[in-house]
Order: sequence, then C-alpha cells, then structure tokens
Amino acid sequence: MTLLKLPGLADIHTHLRTPGGEHKETFTTGTAAALAGGFTTILAMPNTHPPLIDRSIIDQTRQKAQLAILCDVGLFAGASAHRLDDLPGLAAGTVGLKIYLNDTFGPLRVDDLPTLLACFRRWPRHKLIAMHAEGQSVAVGIGLAAAFRRPVHFCHISRKTEIELIAAAKQQGLPVTCEVTPHHLFLTRGDTDRLGPLGDMRPRLAEPEDVEALWRHISTTIDCIATDHAPHTLAEKQADPPPPGVPGLETALPLMLTAVHQGRLSLDRLVELMATNPRRIFNLPPQPDTFIEVDPRARHVISSENLFTLCGWTPFAGMTVTGRLVRTVLRGQTVFDANRPQKSQRLLAKPGTGKVLP
Ligand code: NCD
Ligand code: ZN
Repeated sequence: MTLLKLPGLADIHTHLRTPGGEHKETFTTGTAAALAGGFTTILAMPNTHPPLIDRSIIDQTRQKAQLAILCDVGLFAGASAHRLDDLPGLAAGTVGLKIYLNDTFGPLRVDDLPTLLACFRRWPRHKLIAMHAEGQSVAVGIGLAAAFRRPVHFCHISRKTEIELIAAAKQQGLPVTCEVTPHHLFLTRGDTDRLGPLGDMRPRLAEPEDVEALWRHISTTIDCIATDHAPHTLAEKQADPPPPGVPGLETALPLMLTAVHQGRLSLDRLVELMATNPRRIFNLPPQPDTFIEVDPRARHVISSENLFTLCGWTPFAGMTVTGRLVRTVLRGQTVFDANRPQKSQRLLAKPGTGKVLP
C-alpha cells in the first residue's frame, strides 16, 4: 500500500446548524465528519436559526464553536435587507459575507437591487462576498463584481450556461471565482427517482449535459470543490416537501480521488481544488504540520454505517469508489485514524482542538 501525503483540505461551504439545528448536526459532529473526510478547515454558512446576521449572535456562535470544534472553523455573515447598517461590524468575526439571491433552506434571501448595492458598498473590501446565485442571478453577481471591481465567489455552480458565463467573465479579467459540489459532478436528475428526497438539494440535480460541462471546466474555470454539506435528519427528509440539502464532508475526497483514478483530473488539480485555491481565495491562515494521508488505490463501497455526521446518511451509499482517507494530522497531532478497527476509536481530537477563524 503506497500512501500519498496531501495538504489538509479546506471546505469553504459547510452547514453546521448551530445555532438552532443541533438535532441535524453540531459543531462537534460536523467537524468530526470534516476530519473523517480529510478537511482541516471548514467555513460554516449563516442560514442557521437565528441566522448569523447580527453581532451578538455571531459572537455567541463563535464562543460555542470554540468549546466544541475538532478542526478550524470560520463563519460567514449573512446578508439581510433588515440589517444593512450592521454589516461593517460583522466583518471582524467572520470570513466573508454570504448573499442568497435564490430560494433555499432558511429565511435568508436578498433579491432587490437596493439591498445588493448596500451590501457591496458597506461590506469591507478586504473580505470576500460569496453568492448563492442560480441561472440569470449569476449575471447579476458578475455585473456587481465588474461595477464595484471587487471579488465575488459563486457557490455551487451546477449548470452548463452558468459555468460558461463564468468562463467568459474570467476571460474578460473579472475577479470572479466559483465552486462546484461533488453531488453536481457525480449525480444527475436521472438519479432523483432512485434517491427520492435524498436527492433533493439547491441547486437541484442537473441534466447530463450540465454535468459534462462541469467536467470540461474542471481544470480551467472551476476554482474549488466545496461540499455544501447540508445535513437534515432522515425523518425531516421524509416530509412533504423535504428540506433541501445533502451531507457531503465524508464523501467528497473519495469521490474526487475516484475521478483522479479514472483520469478525469490530475492529483495536483485535486489538491488545487480542495486545498490551495480555497485557502487562497478566502485568505485562510496556514496550518503548520497539517496533512492527510490517502490510499489512492483502496476500493470500497460508500456506506452510511461509517459516517460521523449526525444525520447518518449519504446520497452516495452503495457507490464503489477508489481512494480512501487513512489519516488526518492537524498541527502535528493525529486527529483521525481510519485504520483503527472500531469506529469509536478513529476520532482522536478533543472538542476545542480547532480554532475559530479569523
Ligand atoms: C442548504 C441547507 O440545507 O442549509 N440546502 C441545500 O439544498 N443546499 C442551503 C443552501 O446551501 O442552499
Ligand atoms: Zn449551502
């Protein structure tokens, strides 16, 4: 068995559900899933209950995180039309501003130009703006990036038209970046019959021609792979309508290693997409003596049994993958060891091991 040593991965799009959704995931269970997936830094989204749109909630959430996290965690501030004056004060405790231009899980949504302009004027320039933008909303985001000459990062791009528009914007030298999720690379709309509510997320799964377009841009236009880890309980997923979202922290690396094994991208490109670029784009601090070991040839079947996410399921159950995480080391300490026979022995980090960023 030849092991490869790679940098600790960074997931710039995770839902950790604190405050208010701790029955779906907690800071401890979510960061356990991160370490089991090879991620040593994750950035948590603000669509919590209440959402991360004011200073006191953000400060309280940072304090809760510091006691509970097993890897490094940054929080996003959420944009809200009702809290525009507060925006500059939210930057110090967060890694970026998340603006939801389209509907998804939770109440955060900004779809009027006055609010968007206020966000771009008030959010400090040294901190990134990330957007949930689908379809023509991507053009709105590109227009704002151009008009304000400031970077905009597009979350979970999933359609051929969207990735082609971003490629065109990049060719014009506009400061835009984007991420794609493993579920939009490995599943299509055809999988929704089989998966039922477990295949429901925003953006929805797309057509094969969209997925093919994403793969064509994997070594050029796409900057990052991000999980959009969005845990909901199985019981909640049975509701009508189900809450959108699927977990992904523990399946992203084996899926992307499988793509390397199949010759769809190089291992160097995987490291750029899952470690180097996310860290550069979000200006994340270096983590000394931090790395993961992977066995690139280990074939195994993804199963819900071995997961550390509290929600306990994955839309990829039953899929055979090639490539497995063996060990995660954070600041010189082995924090996850997949070779231990019992699941309960594999996680070696104590709550509080991680740092809250910035
Ligand atoms: C996310 C969630 O559950 O918080 N759901 C999803 O379908 N992706 C919200 C989001 O990222 O849009
Ligand atoms: Zn999300």
